[in-house]
Amino acid sequence: MGAEIKGAIEYSKGLEGVIAALSSISYIDGSQGKLVYRGIPIEMLAKYSNYEETAYLLLYGELPTKEALENFTQQMKTFRILPKRVEDCIRELPPNPHPMDILKVAVAHTALYDPDRLRCCREGVMSKVIRIIAQIPTMIAYYHRARTGQDIVPPDPDLGHAANFLYMLHGKKPDKEEARIFDVALVLHAEHGLNASTFAAMVTASTLSDINSAIVSAIGTLKGPLHGGANERVLKMLDEIGTPDKAEEYVLNALSEKRRIMGFGHRVYKTYDPRARILKEYAEYLSNKYNDRRYIEIGERIEKIMIRELGKKGIFPNVDFYSGIVYQFLGIPRDLFTPVFAMARSVGWAAHVCEYVQNNRIFRPRAYYTGPDYVEYVPIDKRR
Ligand SMILES: CC(C)(COP(=O)(O)OP(=O)(O)OC[C@H]1O[C@@H](n2cnc3c(N)ncnc32)[C@H](O)[C@@H]1OP(=O)(O)O)[C@@H](O)C(=O)NCCC(=O)NCCS
Repeated sequence: MGAEIKGAIEYSKGLEGVIAALSSISYIDGSQGKLVYRGIPIEMLAKYSNYEETAYLLLYGELPTKEALENFTQQMKTFRILPKRVEDCIRELPPNPHPMDILKVAVAHTALYDPDRLRCCREGVMSKVIRIIAQIPTMIAYYHRARTGQDIVPPDPDLGHAANFLYMLHGKKPDKEEARIFDVALVLHAEHGLNASTFAAMVTASTLSDINSAIVSAIGTLKGPLHGGANERVLKMLDEIGTPDKAEEYVLNALSEKRRIMGFGHRVYKTYDPRARILKEYAEYLSNKYNDRRYIEIGERIEKIMIRELGKKGIFPNVDFYSGIVYQFLGIPRDLFTPVFAMARSVGWAAHVCEYVQNNRIFRPRAYYTGPDYVEYVPIDKRR
């Protein structure tokens, strides 16, 4: 059996460099630090678009007309409400688990009340997809309010997707500028090719399972510190370092001990991540606005040291390095940074699932077998 497989398959650890699908959703030029959604540069979307419009673009393949955007935005607002039993369940969930685990439970639970729950990813699921994207922020905000003993704040139909989340989280309407910054952060996180969580969603969907299962797979995958969980750890590191003058010693020690600096490096980008560049500007802006430059100064010092030490290896800041500083100033609790990433990325997950299943083939790679060819079965009383 082993002999049959050996040598027959090209092996790429972590599927690095493997093309696993055709896609017209986004393109990353890792050497030039460029990212486009459906051909539109991320910088233009950050400047002119908002999350709802970007979500439409990713899901439907083109920018919406005014009327289409109004309908889509209205649909998202209508879908923000959670089934009563899911809301009750969220109130009852224990306050200690990581909110990413709560999100998995909430998305799985919502599926139980979905009249279309048995429809697989291939069967006209766009309204299901929009419902999930619209409901995730409500799930996160409700859980946070409940675990901190505060009243739940229902969604406000007068507010856009980003502003409404901040409102449900804090119980007061955000100022327009901060809502806009958060909106841009969501746009920047909305999509990123076949990253681990998107691929996990696609693998699940490729079995013709349902969209909720695909999103639950993706949430579990995004949770890990090598993926979406890095943003939360960046802030922890900045706190550990404490002051900019301690950054050099911290980074050099970490590197000599082969520890990774969170928020740096990327499988595809071998230069500055264009999303990090935009988020850095906002982190800088908010640090000045709040006259609190503690984090940005440590961050910028780490960036200099890392580029000096590892820039030649293509290690630069990624999207997670400055996003945490931005979120901190927007009053988002640290353990919600990764759920907020999930809330933004849900559209990328869904777009790839919908695209892939149209021309579906179940994912089924093989392992390069490295075990013995034949081992005799030894009865248990004869084993030593
Ligand atoms: C994102 C990440 C998983 C990509 O991993 P990858 O493509 O498998 O890259 P590799 O592990 O092959 O790294 C290449 C080299 O750079 C080093 N490197 C990569 N990221 C590093 C980091 N954040 N800190 C220190 N060194 C790093 C590796 O140690 C390796 O060095 P070596 O060639 O001497 O062994 C990796 O960069 C990482 O762990 N980053 C920190 C977590 C993070 O920020 N994740 C969010 C991603 S958006």
